[in-house]
Amino acid sequence: SRRPAFQAALHGWYRVHQRKLPWRDAPSLYKTVVSEFMLQQTQVVTVLPYFDRWLRALPDFAALAAAPETQVMKLWEGLGYYSRARNLHRLAQAWVAAPTPPRTPAAWRELPGIGPYTAAAITSISFDEPAAVVDGNVVRILARLTGENRLFRDGTEAVKFFTPLADALIPGSHPGTHNQAMMELGATVCFRQKPLCLVCPVAAFCTAFRDGEPESLPRLKPK
Ligand code: ADE
Repeated sequence: SRRPAFQAALHGWYRVHQRKLPWRDAPSLYKTVVSEFMLQQTQVVTVLPYFDRWLRALPDFAALAAAPETQVMKLWEGLGYYSRARNLHRLAQAWVAAPTPPRTPAAWRELPGIGPYTAAAITSISFDEPAAVVDGNVVRILARLTGENRLFRDGTEAVKFFTPLADALIPGSHPGTHNQAMMELGATVCFRQKPLCLVCPVAAFCTAFRDGEPESLPRLKPK
């Protein structure tokens, strides 16, 4: 299988080209959880100033758990989807009361505001759980790599279709790095339009690149 060569090419690229993001230096479970909540429906550039302000005001789970709701909402103001802030607050309060943090994606999904994507992101990054994150970016990468040209009814159907492949591509070590490398490739190289195939570290593995029409994949039914 060409899987190890694919993983090595992706990781080598990520090591050199990853953006310097504040939740990536001196990572902690708290930084990972806060950043993944903020990134659920919001782009990295928008999240950056909010993340910094949040970390300075509420540096750890205990501070967040003890903070008044008004302060929490004030710090979130402008990011939108305010249920995320309420869920993050409730999660910290549940957390401080609990003896140990859960480690598996299934256990994290029991917590407020945690869906399959966030559960996989947090547990792969913080606990080395081999769970793949699959969102629109990852779907796009996998559709192009495989040349999968079936027509998907919507994004949800596409995510479901590609999840087994995404899980199969997870390496035995550092699954969180692999997931973040996939996110990074989708965000900075494998664009929906005008992907940068000439600098793509995995172009040699990509069916859509070989066939010359990466923009045509994935195929999603128009709304
Ligand atoms: N989007 C969701 N999680 C992310 C992460 N950890 N880094 C960059 N983009 C993301």
